Amino acid sequence: MSKKFDVLCVMSFLAAAILFGGTLSRAQQEGVSFSENHCVNCHSRLTTPLSVSNKYYDWHTSLHRDNGVGCEKCHGGDPTTNERERAHQGVFPADRPQSRVHPAHLPDTCRTCHPRVVASFVESRHYQKLKESNMGPSCSTCHEHMAAAVVQSPTEAAALCARCHNTVGGLLPPRPEIPERAQQVMEALNRANGMFVWADRLLEVGQEKKLNVTEEARQLKAAKTVLSEAKIEWHALEFDVVRKKADEAFERAGRVKDRLMKLLYPQSVQ
Ligand code: HEC
Ligand code: HEC
Ligand code: HEC
Ligand code: HEC
Ligand code: HEC
Repeated sequence: MSKKFDVLCVMSFLAAAILFGGTLSRAQQEGVSFSENHCVNCHSRLTTPLSVSNKYYDWHTSLHRDNGVGCEKCHGGDPTTNERERAHQGVFPADRPQSRVHPAHLPDTCRTCHPRVVASFVESRHYQKLKESNMGPSCSTCHEHMAAAVVQSPTEAAALCARCHNTVGGLLPPRPEIPERAQQVMEALNRANGMFVWADRLLEVGQEKKLNVTEEARQLKAAKTVLSEAKIEWHALEFDVVRKKADEAFERAGRVKDRLMKLLYPQSVQ
C-alpha cells in the first residue's frame, strides 16, 4: 500500500482509519465486483425472513465487502449458481455444529486470512475452553457478524468481559480484575490509535507543504507495526504484553508528532 493511499484514506475515511489502520480497500482501488456472486445477488434482494435479510446489510457496509470477501468465504456453499438448494450445499445456520461459522469452527474459518490473530487467540484460555466444552467467547463474540463492530470503547469491552467474568451467580467465579484490566488495555490501544491519527494528519500537512518528511513517515510506519502487534497479541489475553506494546507505539508516534510540530510550526513549539 503506498503512502499516498494511506494519506488519502486518513482524509476521507477518518473513522475507518482509526479502526483499521488507514488503508484504501481493494474494492475502492480495483473496483471489486460481486455481479457474478449469486450469494450476494440473491441475498441483496431478500426482504424476508428479517433475521436473514438483515445480515446482508451488515456485509454490504463492511470492510470485508470492500476487500472482496464474499459470503462463501466464511459460510461455504457455491456462489456460482443461482439455485438456492445448490448454492446452500454446506451452508448451515451458525448454531449447528456442522456450520463453518459455529463458534467452535470460527478460528479455522477466519485463520485463512487472519493467521496471526488466530495463532494468538489459540494461546488463550478462551480457545482451550472453546475446544473442550464449546464454552467461552469466539471471534464473533467481540466482532459480531461482519467485524463491522470491533468492540471499540473501553467501557464496552469491560462490560463484555464482565458478562461472564463478573456477574453474581454467573457460571464463572467473579473476577472483577479481568474487566478492569481489559478496560485499561483498551484505553491504551485507544490512546495509541488517537496519537496515530494526530501524527498522520501532521504528516499529511507536511507532505502538502512539500517538506521533507520521509524520515518521519518511516518512523511512523515502524511504530504502526508495533501497534498492530499489540492488537494481534490482545487475542492471547496477555494484558501486560499488549499494554507494553500499545504504550511503546503511543510514545514512538508521539515523538514523531513532536518532530512534525517543530518542523511545521516552529514558532509555537519551544
Ligand atoms: C436464489 C437465492 C439464494 C442464493 C443464491 C443463496 N441464498 Fe442463502 N438464503 C436464501 C433464502 C431465501 C434464505 C432464507 C432461509 C431459507 O429459506 O433457506 C437463505 C438463508 C441463508 C443463510 C441462513 C442460514 C440458513 O441456512 O438458513 C445463510 C448463512 C445463507 N443463506 C448463505 C448463503 C450463501 C453463503 C450463499 C452462496 C454460496 C447463498 N446463501 C446463496 C436465498 C439464497
Ligand atoms: C467474514 C466472515 C463472514 C462473511 C464474509 C459473511 N458472513 Fe454471515 N456470518 C458470519 C458469522 C461469523 C456468523 C455467525 C455469527 C453471527 O450471526 O453474528 C454469520 C451469520 C450469518 C447469518 C445468520 C444465520 C446463521 O447462520 O446463523 C446469515 C443469514 C448470514 N450470516 C448471511 C451472510 C450473507 C448473505 C453474507 C454475504 C452477503 C455473509 N453472511 C457474509 C460470518 C460471515
Ligand atoms: C477471504 C479472506 C477473509 C476471511 C475468510 C475473513 N477475513 Fe476478516 N478481513 C479480511 C480483509 C481483507 C480485511 C480488511 C483489512 C485487512 O486488510 O486486514 C478484513 C478485516 C477484518 C477485521 C477488521 C480489522 C482490520 O484489520 O481492519 C476483522 C475484525 C476481521 N476481518 C475479522 C474476521 C473474522 C472474525 C473472520 C471469520 C469469521 C474473518 N475476518 C474472515 C479478509 C478475510
Ligand atoms: C475478547 C474480544 C475479542 C475476541 C474474542 C476476538 N477479537 Fe479480534 N479484536 C478485538 C479487539 C479489541 C481488537 C483491536 C481493535 C482496535 O483497536 O483496532 C481486535 C482486532 C482484530 C483484528 C485486527 C488486527 C489488526 O492488525 O488491526 C482482526 C483481524 C481480528 N481482531 C480478528 C479476530 C478473529 C479472527 C478472532 C477469533 C479467532 C477474534 N478477532 C477474536 C477483540 C476480540
Ligand atoms: C462468553 C463468556 C466469556 C466472555 C464474554 C469472556 N470470557 Fe474470559 N473466559 C471465559 C471462560 C469460560 C474462561 C475459562 C475459565 C476457566 O479457566 O475455566 C475464561 C477465561 C479467561 C481468562 C483466564 C482466566 C484465568 O484464570 O486467568 C482471562 C484472562 C479472560 N477470560 C479474559 C477475558 C476478557 C479480557 C474478556 C473480555 C474482552 C473475556 N474474558 C470475556 C468466558 C468468557
